[in-house]
Amino acid sequence: MRLCSPLIFCLMAGVASAFVISPNHMWTKLILTHHWPSTFCSMEPCHPTISYWTLHGLWPDKGIECNSTWHFNSSEIEDLRPDMEKSWPDLIKPASSGFWKYEWQKHGTCAAKAESLNSQHKYFSKALELYHKLDLDSILKKFDITPSEKYYKFSQIEAAIENFYSVKPKIQCVHPSKNADVQLLGQIEICFDTDFALQDCEKEKDRVKYMSVDKVSGFSVCDHDIPVYYPPLP
Ligand SMILES: *[C@@H]1O[C@H](CO)[C@@H](O)[C@H](O)[C@H]1NC(C)=O
Ligand SMILES: *[C@@H]1O[C@H](CO)[C@@H](O)[C@H](O)[C@H]1NC(C)=O
Repeated sequence: MRLCSPLIFCLMAGVASAFVISPNHMWTKLILTHHWPSTFCSMEPCHPTISYWTLHGLWPDKGIECNSTWHFNSSEIEDLRPDMEKSWPDLIKPASSGFWKYEWQKHGTCAAKAESLNSQHKYFSKALELYHKLDLDSILKKFDITPSEKYYKFSQIEAAIENFYSVKPKIQCVHPSKNADVQLLGQIEICFDTDFALQDCEKEKDRVKYMSVDKVSGFSVCDHDIPVYYPPLP
């Protein structure tokens, strides 16, 4: 894994090769990705101190690094900083804005093809807005899904999210070893169309692509038959 750390870089490299890169084609779907700090830090060099779902990114379904001359400039999102630090923290280097810079270059510059997201301020503030609107953390609590030493059935978690938002999410787990009898809840993706309305995350054919990508990073779509561990803070 260390070869491929931090995880996000590794994951993004996989996504780059999995999607057909066609810079002139507008994206049609946005993927808002949340990750669970305790699970993330079970694979990466960090100590989890946060017990809520944080933002990983807002990813258009087409394009990677769409404009390499459009540099990240933290002054443009200065007013968002307190919220960014709380909702979109760099779990590996908490004091750094490197994670945001990375996400902007890789995904933001592609999202920016839409007028609604064509500035750094628009991109980051929209991601924060969608994150707060979804309020995933409270929704899971509402359905009695809280970090716990007892295990959940995958179908219980999936049903809570599907029922509440009325769309299909993509839920990823970490499988600690090949034949492990438990999987760790790791990442939850919720998708939007170009008007920021909720939509299903995946069609069957996407699922195949994702599976091969995620094998590299340690995340893969959760197994329906294996109990799910939603780890509390250590
Ligand atoms: C890339 O970004 C720069 C800086 O914002 C901008 O001037 C340029 O038009 C962009 N290029 C494309 C192809 O969008
Ligand atoms: C960064 O953004 C600020 C505020 O918009 C601007 O004044 C400054 O010139 C920008 N810096 C660079 C290097 O583009």
